[in-house]
Amino acid sequence: MKKILVTGGAGYIGAHTVHYLVSKGVQPSDIFVFDNLVYGHKDYLPTGVHFIQGDLLRKDEINAVFSENNIGCVIHFAAYAYVGESMENPGKYFENNILAGLNLLEAMLKGNCNQIVFSSTCATYGIPDVSPISEATPQKPINPYGESKLMFEKILEWYSKIHDIKSVRLRYFNACGAGFGIGELHDPETHLIPLVLQTAKGIRENVSVFGSDYETKDGTCIRDYIHVLDLADAHYKAMDLLDTEDFRTDYFNLGTGIGVSVREIIATSKKITGMDFTVLEMGRRAGDPAELVASPEKAHERLQWRAQYDIDFIIKSAWEWENRLVGE
Ligand SMILES: NC(=O)c1ccc[n+]([C@@H]2O[C@H](COP(=O)([O-])OP(=O)(O)OC[C@H]3O[C@@H](n4cnc5c(N)ncnc54)[C@H](O)[C@@H]3O)[C@@H](O)[C@H]2O)c1
Repeated sequence: MKKILVTGGAGYIGAHTVHYLVSKGVQPSDIFVFDNLVYGHKDYLPTGVHFIQGDLLRKDEINAVFSENNIGCVIHFAAYAYVGESMENPGKYFENNILAGLNLLEAMLKGNCNQIVFSSTCATYGIPDVSPISEATPQKPINPYGESKLMFEKILEWYSKIHDIKSVRLRYFNACGAGFGIGELHDPETHLIPLVLQTAKGIRENVSVFGSDYETKDGTCIRDYIHVLDLADAHYKAMDLLDTEDFRTDYFNLGTGIGVSVREIIATSKKITGMDFTVLEMGRRAGDPAELVASPEKAHERLQWRAQYDIDFIIKSAWEWENRLVGE
């Protein structure tokens, strides 16, 4: 069985993917998680998985993983992902999301590993003038976070052409939901669903809606919310694609294709939790596009991937997780 290195595998999407791979029959002993634990949770990982605490910015640490283990494929989640912070401290994002990634690619070359699945983002599209967003939509990021992900996508294209490193770039829309007894635990938390549910739980006093005068069905922003286990499944399928003959590089949007507004998230959360809570109507935030919805057609066709979970299931699973978390 091929050995899989998961960078950032102790983080939210990474740890769910590790559990998902094990549920699909991958031996835990064939999985190597490399994470500096800046945001990760080591206790999220299933037993038997190798855990290496290390930083991709330290070449010696990542080189050692490849020289000591016969890694066949990499899933690269490790990055910083706070859009707002990237506008204040772009260097931190270019360093961790590009330079650290380059260290990884060079370590792969030294270790004769030529397969990588990369976590990209819908933030590479910026404020598109079409909806839904297909892979043909021009990528024009509007913040250093999105730019850093786009730059690394381009680096992967060159490494595919010049070094025959095969890559699948997965552009996630809004990751959410929970499974395998773990869930979203970012600090600080900036994602809407955990913020809403923590308000329902009484941990936060209120939740803010930023902008209610957009040209959308109810005036609030529309996003494409995709369950983290659907994302995990796409990584599993991407690894199969990397194994196909003559494959070099490709990229896919990962979303449901269904737009859900901020007001709909709040209403569904109130329905599922049975709790009422305070919602504050604030002005628009700079740089928030009115609508970001994926066209997942290419992933349907080429990856045989399709999202399984709807917004009710997402919120139910996240609510179960919030309750477990608070109960501990
Ligand atoms: N959460 C989303 O909605 C979303 C959407 C689009 C793309 N993404 C991308 O998916 C990936 C995972 O996101 P997440 O929400 O799970 O974030 P996360 O912060 O929970 O996970 C990232 C992990 O990487 C680790 N890490 C960061 N820098 C590192 C380094 N230099 N060396 C080793 N480990 C390092 C962190 O400790 C953390 O465990 C990121 O690349 C992010 O940009 C996330």
